[in-house]
Amino acid sequence: MANEWKIVDDYISDRLIPPADRQGATLEANRASGLPAIDVSAPQGKLLHLLAASIGARRILEIGTLGGYSTIWLARALADGGRVVTIEFDPRHAEVARQNIAREGVAETVDLRVGAALDILPKIETEGGAPFDLAFIDADKANNAAYFGWALKLSRPGSLIIVDNVVRDGAVADPHTTDDGGLGGRKLFDLVAAEPRVMATAIQTVGSKGWDGFLIALVK
Ligand code: SAH
Ligand code: DHB
Ligand code: MG
Repeated sequence: MANEWKIVDDYISDRLIPPADRQGATLEANRASGLPAIDVSAPQGKLLHLLAASIGARRILEIGTLGGYSTIWLARALADGGRVVTIEFDPRHAEVARQNIAREGVAETVDLRVGAALDILPKIETEGGAPFDLAFIDADKANNAAYFGWALKLSRPGSLIIVDNVVRDGAVADPHTTDDGGLGGRKLFDLVAAEPRVMATAIQTVGSKGWDGFLIALVK
């Protein structure tokens, strides 16, 4: 990753993201517990927050919690009475997330489910948890197309669906890629391209996490 990208992310954070919003304790707890440092960056977390706030989201679905860093950004954007349902496969990650979510004061508005997303999503549907106003997909990239299908199923017209890591150093545009994320991304783009119920774009990003991107879809 170009060092300038990190310097500029720090510059943006220093000016636009007050220390109280930066979740230093969350990131430190993740590090101390040996979680991989693959949370969204602070500017990206704030983008999720702004998107959720701009649509007045009350119901948010997240697939891939890790230590809850993105979850907390989303929970802090919820309209009154709102809730984030977040799904995490690894119980060790979920335990760290639970502590972070409690420390940051959003335990009341976060419903953390532990298990494989493809097992839990049908349960959420059966429980009547849908529709979600916003879904953020950020788990195992090979399943991105399947997760997008679920997010769409659990949406309503006007919902936003956001998928992280769809560019992966350009792997998405390489027909010979063997990268999980690249392959998962290609399946996702094919699905979205053929899906008449959404309008979508993707934006490449550079920053402290290297070269990647988000896909953003609006349900018609
Ligand atoms: N959204 C987080 C980062 C998530 S990292 C943030 O920005 O802070 C991806 C997470 O997805 C990891 O914690 C991983 O354990 C989890 N994951 C992987 N496979 C999964 C699956 N099948 N179901 C649910 N979560 C999964
Ligand atoms: C990885 C996963 C992510 O969600 C991410 O944003 C960056 C990297 C990974 O599995 O390497
Ligand atoms: Mg990610």
